[in-house]
Amino acid sequence: NLVPIIAIDGPSASGKGSVAQRVAEAMGFHFLDSGALYRLTALAAGRRGINWDDEVGVAGVAVALDVVFEGEHVLLDGAEVAHAIRSEDIGVGASRVAALPAVRAALLERQRAFARMPGLVADGRDMGSVVFPDAALKVFLTASAEVRAERRYKQLAERGEEADLTAIADDLRARDERDRARAVAPLVQLPDARLLDTSKLGIDEAVAQVLAWWSEVR
Ligand code: C5P
Repeated sequence: NLVPIIAIDGPSASGKGSVAQRVAEAMGFHFLDSGALYRLTALAAGRRGINWDDEVGVAGVAVALDVVFEGEHVLLDGAEVAHAIRSEDIGVGASRVAALPAVRAALLERQRAFARMPGLVADGRDMGSVVFPDAALKVFLTASAEVRAERRYKQLAERGEEADLTAIADDLRARDERDRARAVAPLVQLPDARLLDTSKLGIDEAVAQVLAWWSEVR
């Protein structure tokens, strides 16, 4: 695989989505928000009346997912869902369907198809471990539990969603626990991943660090 790939993995609300997107912009690379695919799968399954624990049913939805990413827009079956997939409810659904091996298998090739020249920045939980194990640069991007809860709280408040800091902290803990404990593609810090703790870093500094690492490895 000759396409240069930067894999950025880490827990929820660590800021990796914003960092990954900004790195992709700075380099002129494509961007994969793999979490969005799990969110879309959860949303599409819900709309079709398929239970999030129904592995065969949800995997069928994942294989057939009709989705278009266009800048800020996300179209599911031709309709805008960019806002709908960001709700806490769909986040929980995403982490439930993401624990099902058949669902992960169903989304694997779709994710790999994002690897196109001049390069890709991929954001998720298993970008460096499963989807792009040969990535030239792997980053494990995290932040303390308190900082992550505050970031998610701000995100929700900015969107005008009701938010309760304690409930958010509990929800993040439960989701991370599920992501780390699952049998397939658990969230792990790989030995070959560079650790980027953004608890005390602004987004510009975090982006600059990834770009500096990239110039070391390329
Ligand atoms: O990153 P985001 O919060 O949008 O992801 C939603 C959920 O999808 C995560 O909590 C995780 O369970 C799952 N996910 C995953 N593997 C990825 C990306 C996301 O299991 N590569």
